[in-house]
Amino acid sequence: SNVLRLAPSILSADFARLGEEVRAIEAAGCDLVHFDVMDNHYVPNLTIGPLVCEAIRPHVQIPIDVHLMVEPVDSIIPLFAKAGANIITFHPEASKHVDRSLSMIRELGCKAGLVLNPATPVSVLDHVMDKLDMILLMSVNPGFGGQKFIPSTLAKLRTVRAKIDAHVAAGGQPIWLEVDGGVKTDNIREIVAAGADTCVAGSAVFGAPDADGGYHTVMQALRR
Ligand code: DX5
Ligand code: ZN
Repeated sequence: SNVLRLAPSILSADFARLGEEVRAIEAAGCDLVHFDVMDNHYVPNLTIGPLVCEAIRPHVQIPIDVHLMVEPVDSIIPLFAKAGANIITFHPEASKHVDRSLSMIRELGCKAGLVLNPATPVSVLDHVMDKLDMILLMSVNPGFGGQKFIPSTLAKLRTVRAKIDAHVAAGGQPIWLEVDGGVKTDNIREIVAAGADTCVAGSAVFGAPDADGGYHTVMQALRR
């Protein structure tokens, strides 16, 4: 796809006004709500769960992109499907049976994806390409917003882009390629040039509100 999808991470939103915040990013033209789930076990931080997903669901029409940073994953997947998640991604290290967890997500009617940490080799994708709707490359170590983009992600993006293109050329289903961590207005163009079609941005979006509290200016700057 040559259409860039933007997925603001609500990790950097004002949680006391979360309904307004997700309405504001949708009004500003974003494509997905990126929803970071952390369990203080797989990652050293604790965030939000299915109750919050269910609470924001009626406030937006766009898909909710749930990024699970939890271990294990199988017990929480059905709860997010029920809470209105549209895409569910998880880290392969956090599931004993990756193929089974991917199948479970699709059987529940959601799009499924794997998340690769900066040091996770792309070979984890090899035997499950048919079961992926999304591949998410972490460009920071997971756990916190506001970290710096790790430059080696660009080479990894080119590798995974080639893998996806070969898969599609051989008759496979489309797979979105998302990047998460440290995406800013000044590096997003090289990230897209390296092959990303979907970009998460947390602090870059929620740290730059318009005077009226909207996010039109930053969203346009990310697309420019
Ligand atoms: C990190 C999260 C990211 C993070 C992105 O573990 O998965 O989604 O919130 O935030 P920024 O864009 O500030 O790096
Ligand atoms: Zn994330």
